[in-house]
Amino acid sequence: MVKNGESMNKKHRYINNPGRLLLSEIKAVLDTKIIAKELKYYSKISSTNQEARKIAEHGAQDGTIIIAETQTQGRGRQGRSWESPAGGIWLTIILRPKISPEHAPILTLLTGSVIAKTIRYTTELKATLKWPNDVRIHDKKVCGILTELSAEQDNINFVLVGLGINVNINIDRFPQELQSQVTSLQEELKRSVDRITFTKRLLEQFETEYLKFLKNPINKIPAIIKTWRQLSDTLGRNVVVETNSGKIVGFASDIADDGALIVLTETGEEHKIIAGDCIYLEQ
Ligand code: BTN
Repeated sequence: MVKNGESMNKKHRYINNPGRLLLSEIKAVLDTKIIAKELKYYSKISSTNQEARKIAEHGAQDGTIIIAETQTQGRGRQGRSWESPAGGIWLTIILRPKISPEHAPILTLLTGSVIAKTIRYTTELKATLKWPNDVRIHDKKVCGILTELSAEQDNINFVLVGLGINVNINIDRFPQELQSQVTSLQEELKRSVDRITFTKRLLEQFETEYLKFLKNPINKIPAIIKTWRQLSDTLGRNVVVETNSGKIVGFASDIADDGALIVLTETGEEHKIIAGDCIYLEQ
């Protein structure tokens, strides 16, 4: 679906152009059963997560995607804002998994692993995962994931998986204070990346893993955690984790079945941290 008056007839003019408009054409090349069967494209939007919530509350189907060239009010974790200039992949997947709400955090881990693997496969860059949900290259953030859950006691209404990937973006498009912490695929490769090919691979792989997970959630969790561990750059490090109830300093020893980070403190205490910001004490 093409919005904002951008015509599909322009397809041939843009086919080799990694820049604008191509994102609207993803649906045409996708080989998926549920993901992006409904796809809403915007050249500019406030936030794909915000729009996704609106339409999910009005019954949007499982697998619906909202994708935008730019966001004016992109949202990050912990109420932060998310810079979303043209050239990135800013999208939200609406999911309606028939799983227990307690298993929803696994979807964030699954998404992070799929993104890291897609980067590795399409670019050969060694993308790694930083708890809870950053994808990094050479110790700099290339992608963030914002998962939002709407659930009742035992039932999930919907899960919004919002992901922001810095693809074809010059680092000087980011505010000065972020420039030493972030990177983009273009920055790392010194060339641009075809966002259609990348997004196709990403969404097809996401669907494969998502459907496997849905078939047998409890049995699939150990394999999802194992993959996350293999891709992680957090485990085995000394960290400070800033949580709502204070800072925890210790050794990041493992990740639990619900996605919580296990941190061992100097005094031998074991903390299971559900949410927080993780800072590495040494690189
Ligand atoms: C983070 O803080 O690391 C999470 C960032 C998530 C950004 C993405 S971009 C697409 C989607 N829409 C939003 O407003 N946020 C997410």
